Amino acid sequence: MSAQLAHAVELLRAGELVAFPTETVYGLGAAARNPAAVAKIFAAKGRPADHPLIVHLPDATHLEGWARNIPEAARALAAAFWPGPLTLILKRQPGVPAAVTGGQDTVGLRVPNHPLALELLREFNDGIAAPSANRFGRISPTTAQHVRDDLGTRVSLILDGGPCQVGIESTIVDLSGATPRILRPGMLSASDMARVLGDTPLAAEAAPATIRVSGNLEAHYAPRTPLVLCPGEYLTATLQDGIAQQLRIAVLATFPAPFDHHDLHWKVAPADPAGFARDLYAQLRELDALGCDRIVVQLPVGAVWQAIHDRLKRAATGSGTPDTRD
Ligand code: TXA
Ligand code: MG
Repeated sequence: MSAQLAHAVELLRAGELVAFPTETVYGLGAAARNPAAVAKIFAAKGRPADHPLIVHLPDATHLEGWARNIPEAARALAAAFWPGPLTLILKRQPGVPAAVTGGQDTVGLRVPNHPLALELLREFNDGIAAPSANRFGRISPTTAQHVRDDLGTRVSLILDGGPCQVGIESTIVDLSGATPRILRPGMLSASDMARVLGDTPLAAEAAPATIRVSGNLEAHYAPRTPLVLCPGEYLTATLQDGIAQQLRIAVLATFPAPFDHHDLHWKVAPADPAGFARDLYAQLRELDALGCDRIVVQLPVGAVWQAIHDRLKRAATGSGTPDTRD
């Protein structure tokens, strides 16, 4: 174990915050069984205290320490996809702090697939509560520098594990009710899970916008610059329009700029969903930093883009607002 990792474990045991990489986004971690430590997460993020957190585990053998009445479907999903970008919502054990569950009778659990996160979790040997390591409502961080930019000295230590390879947050499946239900889409899709669940049906419709899943608040994952989505075939016309209005426009699209203009700042995104997701948040942060009047993102079409579409819609809805949530 590196000296830095030993230090990270020491800080967690002392009730301090440690940011760490996962394969999805960077997490802002605290000892999940320590309510005072968990309270620091909410303070650092500026997040409302009734929003539940995901507890990260070293492996599936830790499930019993956090969840009860674990259905077969949950065990099957954990066996198939952990470590990986999947969060299971299960009935909680009585001892799980209310600060972690938002006072609910359920708890969110995940084993992340990142070597540094797994090493940290194994050394800590218990649950680490961690939301995405951004200020509330803002774009999730996919590099250590993003965490530094957002949280600075609000976090005791940031472990740098390089850029996240999945790039958007985990798929959340609620297994606490009669039918498994997807609460938040992610790169692990409904059809990936249906293959494992066999005869168990999966309610794939989006969850109602309630406070249970903060990612379901409409304004989320949002840049400060107003962001609009535009189908690829209307992009040129939309941009010509904006430029005629003397707007400075930042663009994210899967193809190169059809024309050059000094008010046009173009970024090419990977054309495949996995690549697009991996780079998305870093690219949105870069475009946001240009301080343009508008960000225009090419709207991808098709079922394989569902999770990306979800994040882009939320980014559009929450964009353009000053830091009222910070
Ligand atoms: O990929 C991820 O899931 C990342 C990395 C760090 O693991 N984490 C993440 O955490 O996205 P956060 O807090 O930004 O989003 C976690 C989501 C929230 O929308 C929260 O409401 C939901 O999980 N959640 C946690 N526990 C829950 C519960 N008991 N019931 C319903 N939703 C829950
Ligand atoms: Mg988040």
